[in-house]
Amino acid sequence: MKPFYLTTAIDYVNGAPHLGHAYEKVLTDVIARFRRMMGDEVYFLTGVDEHGQKVQMAAQQLGIPPQQYVDETSAAFRALLPQLSISNDDFIRTTEPRHKAVVSRLLQQLYDKGEIYQAEYKGFYSTRQEQFLQEKDRQPDGTWPEIFGDVTEITESNYFFKLAGYQAWLVDFLTTHEDFIFPRYRQKQVLEFLKDPLNDLCISRPRERLEWGIPLPFDPNYVTYVWFDALVNYYSAVADTGQWPADLHVIGKDILVPPHAVYWPIMLHALGLPLPKSLLVHGWWSVNGVKMSKSTGNFIVPADYTGEFGVDALRYFLIREMNVGQDSDFTRAQFLVRYNSELANNLGNLINRTLNMTTRFGAGLIPAAGPAEDVEKELQALWDKTRTEVIPLCEGFQFHAALDRTFAFITATNAYIEKRAPWKLGKSTTEADQTLLRTALATMAEALRLGAALLQAVMPTTTEKINGVLGYTPGAIWRDELAWGSRLTGRKVAEALVLFPRPQPADKAPAKP
Ligand code: MSP
Repeated sequence: MKPFYLTTAIDYVNGAPHLGHAYEKVLTDVIARFRRMMGDEVYFLTGVDEHGQKVQMAAQQLGIPPQQYVDETSAAFRALLPQLSISNDDFIRTTEPRHKAVVSRLLQQLYDKGEIYQAEYKGFYSTRQEQFLQEKDRQPDGTWPEIFGDVTEITESNYFFKLAGYQAWLVDFLTTHEDFIFPRYRQKQVLEFLKDPLNDLCISRPRERLEWGIPLPFDPNYVTYVWFDALVNYYSAVADTGQWPADLHVIGKDILVPPHAVYWPIMLHALGLPLPKSLLVHGWWSVNGVKMSKSTGNFIVPADYTGEFGVDALRYFLIREMNVGQDSDFTRAQFLVRYNSELANNLGNLINRTLNMTTRFGAGLIPAAGPAEDVEKELQALWDKTRTEVIPLCEGFQFHAALDRTFAFITATNAYIEKRAPWKLGKSTTEADQTLLRTALATMAEALRLGAALLQAVMPTTTEKINGVLGYTPGAIWRDELAWGSRLTGRKVAEALVLFPRPQPADKAPAKP
């Protein structure tokens, strides 16, 4: 069976990676890990977008060849992956021969099929966006919006891909495949966009203007437009392995229309290749309400947080805070609220109590539970509800809600411990109290093991460490691990595990790693 094939967008490398890039990798990684936990084979691709005018200009400014420039900057993007515990199977660079060969091959095929033609083009060109503009892009006062940077009028001969001829097909496809884009309202936006007629897509740049690209196989005086080159990465990485089509492309909302929702499906359809199964479109992280981006200098460096709080704390925050599809503002204060109350106080507290009390009152061995009374039955009932809710939430990309439910169960476990008060039972010598104590120790350990199992996709290292201190090695089938039982009986626990040391209060100056 074909693996579940999922991808991130490939990042431009004219700058350093920031938290927006980190989020997309973590989100995709959580999906990949969740699918593996559910028993799927997964193929997870990420990478970098290395051609185009921006890179050429950045390299020129530094006075170094573009290849040297991308070799250096791509290294930082690649290094981000292990820093964030990303479990990708492949990393593609668009300057690699395996990619360039496929781009040339596909271009030649389209050319041979008559899908590409040459024409004279006169128009306004934005270097920053690397695209020709249309009259409708102007502001009411006739000027061009800031996002386009310097706009110049140019006349040149170029190659065009016959996009317009596929408009009706695309509208029909989107209308009959309502689940192609998640969230659904994004698909409606694409259909809105398609109410205006499409123009054919200029897919070449004359070499005298742009050297840094993949030469057109049928005319070496031109290089390939960067989007036509970049989108192909999803296919070129797996071209001859039988893994195409992708099951899921994870992208930000800025690159849905037109690249991923219009160019890409039409390119594939014109080539006679199957379309990806679906697109997941996430929102933006902002800082003080302004989109995080390298060009404005308004960004958070992921290493600042992983260094100070650990990788899993950052992964947790990103996934817990952002409702996939919507936007979120990143503030250190909000990060600290969640870190302190959810990770350090709630989960951290459950770990401490379980290890500490098992050591003190159980000689470090998790006892067998006695008969469940009402308080245990309530907690077990909540567990059954939690696990049945969490799986569909994850399948529907509602990871923030899945974490919310999981932490509600952890809160309930801490409340259970308060009710049972093992520290009091430990002082009593009656047989009845000793039985209750054993039940309490077994129950809290089992609840911790189960809660940790639900955190595995988001906080893989944390889950592994929790299993480790419980003396437990989970079985191969994750779903089977979710049944409440007595797997931990007789296991020797570690004395302590500090995963989330309490940081400074939110109002103190930020500590640097
Ligand atoms: N190179 C193109 C994508 C080509 S895909 C065939 C590109 N690169 S990018 O570096 O600008 O963005 C890469 C991804 O990061 C995009 O999906 C983008 O939406 C995402 N993010 C960049 N800044 C972001 C935030 N501030 N917040 C969340 N994600 C954002 O576009």
